[in-house]
This record gives sequence, structure tokens and C-alpha cells, in this order.
Amino acid sequence: MLHYCLQERLKMSSGSIQLLREFDGFPFNPLLDASWIAEIPDYPISPGDLYIATYPKSGTTWTQQIVSLIQWGGEKDTHISSDIPWLESIGKDSARALSPPRTLKTHLPYDMMPGRDPANSIGKYIYIARNPKDVAVSLYYHAKRYAAFQFTGDWDCFFELFMKGEVSCGLWFHHIFGWWEHKDAKNILFLKYEDLKKDLPASVKTIAQFMGCSLDDAMIDKITKQSTFESMKDDPLANLPLGFPVVSGSTPFIRKGVIGDWKNHFTDEQSTRFDAEYTKRMSGTGLVFDFQ
Ligand code: A3P
Repeated sequence: MLHYCLQERLKMSSGSIQLLREFDGFPFNPLLDASWIAEIPDYPISPGDLYIATYPKSGTTWTQQIVSLIQWGGEKDTHISSDIPWLESIGKDSARALSPPRTLKTHLPYDMMPGRDPANSIGKYIYIARNPKDVAVSLYYHAKRYAAFQFTGDWDCFFELFMKGEVSCGLWFHHIFGWWEHKDAKNILFLKYEDLKKDLPASVKTIAQFMGCSLDDAMIDKITKQSTFESMKDDPLANLPLGFPVVSGSTPFIRKGVIGDWKNHFTDEQSTRFDAEYTKRMSGTGLVFDFQ
């Protein structure tokens, strides 16, 4: 078994712009506990365990809402963060106290997951991917929103950090590739944010089927209505407070929810550079996004 040596340190990137904590080369939110991250690969997996795994800002909360509504039969009065806790943030004691089957969200790369090899485990995994240009923009507002990151730069500055992977959860290409490589495993459902946007009822059905639930049309409709951007934006149970201090005047967590907001932020030069990087790193993998 691989041993992750603990390299806990606070990292100030490119002139004190963003505060991250790093564990074995994996940079993450400085409020999380690196010693717990180190133990996660040994966290038990039980039959029926379900993980929602994403690179941040790819539709995690949206998928949490859909999954928890499926689990609650379309009606619930509990918060998504209690229905589906964030593995990295709950800490060792709370994680160990959870009885199986557990449903958890995570932003961990593939090989830092419990058991280190999801495709060969008894758990199930829903991985949501999003156009990385939109991810970068959403993550920019996220870094500005949460005080813990101490991020004071502008978009141009954040773009450079994103390209280098000096952002929470590291290089997007590494994260996505680790999961994409295993997308055909029977216990992994690989979906795109853009597919949820294009046909939400069909995505609800696909997710339910993967979870082993057969939903009638009325239930799909009920869950879909509670999972739209408009519905979630005003629903305190579907937003993500988590108790992390927020910078006053920053954008809401459920911010814009559109495809293509990157066009309002990327310069032509940034877009060309990103496209070239995407081609360099992802060509031949078969994973494509519509960058038009
Ligand atoms: P934007 O910042 O582009 O608006 P995550 O939950 O992984 O952190 O992702 C957050 C992103 O998903 C935000 O993107 C948020 O607005 C968007 N989002 C959340 N709920 C959504 C929904 N029901 N429909 C579309 N987008 C949603």
C-alpha cells in the first residue's frame, strides 16, 4: 500500500495571493485537517456506500440535492450537508461514527479516495465533470468568497494560478484524468454538468438508475423541480453554509449556474492558451467539452 507522507504546510502562491494547505502535493482548503486527509485512504468502504466526487465547482451541490431527494423520496426538510456530508471536512471522529451505507461528497483525486482504487471497491461513485473554463471562473468567485483563502487577486491572477494548479484541489487535468480513466467501471457513473443542464429529468433518471432506484415520471418531475437553479438558489437547505466565514459582498454560493460564463472572463489569449493546454494534456483521452 502506498504511504502518503504528511507534508503539512501553508502555501502562499505567487506573492501571497491565495492560502492553501498542502498534503503530499495536493493543495486544499486551509480550514481542513491534513492529518485526517492522510487517513482517508484507510477509511472503510461498505456495500451501499455512495460517493459524489468532483473537482470543486463542477456541480457537486447540485448532485447532492438530486441524490438526497432520490434517497428521501422527493420530500425532505434536512440540509444537503447533513444528508450528504463532505468527507474531507467532517473529520475523523464524525466520519468513523457514520454507519453504512454512507453517502458522502468528496473533492479528492482518484488515488486519495478510501481504498485508493474506487473502480475495484464495493462502493458506488458519481463523478461530475464540468467544462474547465467554467470551472476556473466559478472557482475564482469561490476563492474570493471564502475568507480562508485570503485571495485578493483579480481574474488574470487567478487564471495563472488555475493553469499551474495552485488552487484548491490542484491541477484540474490531474483530477479529471484520474477519474476519467476509470469511467467505464460498473460502479462509477461519469456525468457532465452540461448534460444535467441540457436535460435535467433525464439526468435525474440516470442517477436514480445508477443508485438502483426506479422512479416514475411524477417522482422524476418532483425531484427535477426542486433541483433547478432557480429552486436551489432560494432554498437554504440546498445552499452550502458549512460555517466557513464568507467575505462580505461576495457572490452567493449558487451563483450563476450557466454554461459558458468563461466567455465573460477569459481574454482571447487566455482562451487560446487554455485550449492548447487542453489539447496537450487531454488529446487522445476521448474527453471533450464544447469550448465554443
Ligand atoms: P457558478 O459559480 O458557475 O454559478 P459545486 O457545488 O461543485 O461547488 O459547484 C457550484 C457551481 O454549480 C456554481 O456554478 C453553482 O451556481 C452551480 N450550481 C449549483 N446548483 C445548480 C443548479 N441547480 N443548476 C445549475 N448550476 C448549479
